[in-house]
Parts: sequence; structure tokens; C-alpha cells
Amino acid sequence: MPLFSSKNPPILTPNRPVGTSRQFPEGFLWGVSTAAHQVEGSNHNNQWSDWEAAGRIRSGDISGNACDWWNNAERDFDLAHEMGLNALRLSVEWSRIEPRRDRWDAAALKRYRAMLEALRQRNIQPMVCLHHFTHPRWFEHKGAFLAPDAAERFELFTRRVVEELGDLCRHWVTFNEPNVYGALGYVLGEFPPGRKGEIITAVRVVNRMAACHARAFHAIHELQPDAQVGWAHNYVVFEPVNRAFPPHRWIAALLSYLFNESFIGLIEHGRLAFPFNFATPNLKEVKDTCDFVGLNVYSRFHVAFSLKHSSQLFGNVFVPPHVPQGDCGVEKPYGEAYPEAIREAVQSVARLGKPIYILENGVPDAQDRIRPWLMVNAIQALHRTVEEGYDVRGYFHWTLTDNFEWTEGWRLRFGLVALDPTTQQRTMRESAHLYSEIGRANGISPEMTEKFCRPEARPGFNREGRESTRRNF
Ligand code: BGC
Repeated sequence: MPLFSSKNPPILTPNRPVGTSRQFPEGFLWGVSTAAHQVEGSNHNNQWSDWEAAGRIRSGDISGNACDWWNNAERDFDLAHEMGLNALRLSVEWSRIEPRRDRWDAAALKRYRAMLEALRQRNIQPMVCLHHFTHPRWFEHKGAFLAPDAAERFELFTRRVVEELGDLCRHWVTFNEPNVYGALGYVLGEFPPGRKGEIITAVRVVNRMAACHARAFHAIHELQPDAQVGWAHNYVVFEPVNRAFPPHRWIAALLSYLFNESFIGLIEHGRLAFPFNFATPNLKEVKDTCDFVGLNVYSRFHVAFSLKHSSQLFGNVFVPPHVPQGDCGVEKPYGEAYPEAIREAVQSVARLGKPIYILENGVPDAQDRIRPWLMVNAIQALHRTVEEGYDVRGYFHWTLTDNFEWTEGWRLRFGLVALDPTTQQRTMRESAHLYSEIGRANGISPEMTEKFCRPEARPGFNREGRESTRRNF
């Protein structure tokens, strides 16, 4: 029973002082999230392998053996176990399971069974995602989610996976971030199919993914009545540069609606709000098709109205200097590391009245300069939502071991554990030890809040609030 619904608003509590502990409810999940293409290695049959071969990775890298999970995921499961984690999210690679249309690969399903068994043997609860950005080449060539039979194909794949793995997994994530898939693939051109400025197409793609999600939701429940099915939603904070100037506010609200609200609106009402519904049909069958909401929360972007940015609906989206930031991508900053984003994200999806899991949160940070600060403060912000009565049931850090970061290749390192992809050698970063302590204690200790949650601990600033030279931003 969710503690919070729009009819039952939470009582807002003031934040606790630093130096006190924050304990989470019993059974809270402390996990890490991963994705097939980023960790498995030797994925040669999906649209991302073509994207890599076409030289579209900014760093020039290819995923190669990635973290070598297809041969030895168990090495990282051992690490997760040693860290005392009780959950792990992974995805299955459709292009391995159905390499050609209607051809199913029993050996691939067997390997996934072995992985889930290995997790369970280590008392780690698996959460399986069915689509994390990648799919078979044959599906891409048919138009991917714009193909007329996309929902049918996705349902067939889902059924196959659940029939084979359903006894080992109860929590299913249908899609990872339909909003990111739509925006990067059809507006910014950074993900395959690399189309730019096609906002209406992106909205249609997200709608079609919602239809696929609904079909999968019903199929999973038919096969496994006690399953819990949700999706992973990427939530970004869009902050107007100056709230007193209405165009900045309007453009931030518009971007936030399109990015943060569209998929949720479909689940909540079965349609997009006017005027965005003009390009897409109503989807009554999508309404109420989730048992939980997964949230992937990373950063905040600042937004200014700008006539020069017509292809982005006149929004100049940027990261100002002197805010905490992880490492930079090849061409652009990753975003402001903003721990409070978690709270805003939880508040925004709570109206669905479903349990919430933070399914990704992290920062690219090879030297572990700001990850400990980000992690402790994000978990503190999350704790506050729990105290306020929001039904939050888990936190999954992105990610366990450095992995192949899409268009940035190996340049951005999100792992609690550092990886040398050539030797496959793993080295625990400080934040791996910290996260392990948090998971084992089911919360954050007074020492941690004392060390990381004071305003002066915010990276980039010294005690006087002036920019610090101590840390390297
Ligand atoms: C994606 C991951 C990605 C992470 C860091 C998330 O939005 O789901 O696949 O690696 O962000 O960029």
C-alpha cells in the first residue's frame, strides 16, 4: 500500500541537522545498476555495434569486451556481494536472445539464467530491464519503435524472456529512459538513428514505446501474476537562470514538461496534455500500467530563453561554471552534480501513487573527487523523502564497475570500482567502501553527514563559500 498518493499528501519535515544518522526502513534495497551493452562485451548484432563501427563514439572507442560479463559477470557479482549489496539491476540484450526475427537463441537465455542464479546464490535480488537503449539490427532496420508491428515484436520478446527467467526474477523494468532514447536519437542526433531536430517524431517514438510498455506489462502479469513491473524514468532538473524573467521560466517549464512529464502523463492519463497530443493518438491502454516507478536521476541543467536556440525550442541549456561537476565529456559537460534532484524527482512522480525506486544515480568521476559527496548528499535527500512519507523502496547506484559510456566510450567513468578494460583489472574506489558501509548499516552515519553534508563540503567551494582551488574542477 503506497504511503503517499495525491489524496494523502506527506507532511513536510525540516531537514535533520548534520551529525545525526539517517536510517532507512527494513528491507530497503541497496543496489547497483548496469546495462547489457555497457558491460557484456562482444555484442555485435545490435544497432549500437553499427553506431560504433560507423565511428560515432566521440572518444573513438568501441565497447569491445566491455566488462566481460558475457564470460564472467560472476567476478563483479562477487564484488557486489563483498560490498554487502542486496540488489542489482541488469538488462537482457534482445539481439542475443532473438538474433534474427523469430529465431531464438537458447544458449543466450541459458547464460542469463546462470547470471540470475549466480545473483540469487549471493543473496542479491535481481531486477531485469528488457530494453536498455539497444535492440537487434533487424528491428532497427524495420524502423524500430516506429515500425507498425513494434509492440507485437516487443511483446513476443518479453514473453520469451519471462517464460525463461520468470522463476528467478520478480521485478521487471520494461524500458530504460524512453525520454532519453527519444531525445538523443531523434532531437540531438547523439544516439542511433542519429536524427536531429525531429521533435514531433521523438514524441511519436515515446508514445510508441509507451504502447510497447503496456503490452509488456500485461504479458508479464499474465505469465507471472505476482510480478512487479515498471520502467526507468530519467528525471532532469531544468532551472531557469532567472525566475523573475518569465520567458526563462516558461522555456524551463516547457522543456521539463516534454522531457520529464510526457511518459508519466501517458501512464497517468493515457494521453499527452494539449497541445502535445496533436501528433499522437490517445493510448487508453497505457493508463495505469505500472506497479512501481523507477527513477534515474543525475543532474541539473540551467536554462535561458535564447532566440539562437530555435532547434531546442528556444532554450539554451547549459551548466554554469563553479557548480559541482563530474568529469567532462569530449565536447560538453555532463551536467551539474545536484544531489537534491532526487527529492524533486520523487515529489514529481509520487502523484502516481506507486512505490518508487531510485534506479540510477551517480556521476562521471575517474578520480573519485566528488562522488562520495554526491552519494552521501543524494542519499540524505532521499532519506528526507522517506521521512516525509514517500514510498521509496530502494537506491541503485550507477554503476558497479566502470563501463562503456555510450557516445563517450571509456572516457567517462561512473564506477564505484575502477576498471582497466584492457587487463580487466578492478580497483575499488573510496566510494565503493563508503557505499558498502551505507548498505550494511542501512543508512548514513553521523560521521558521514558530518563529513559530507555541511555546506562547505560542497565541492568547488571553501568554508567562506568562495571557489576552492583544493579540488580540481
Ligand atoms: C543511462 C546509462 C548511462 C548513465 C550515465 C543513464 O541515463 O541509463 O546507460 O550510462 O545514464 O550517463
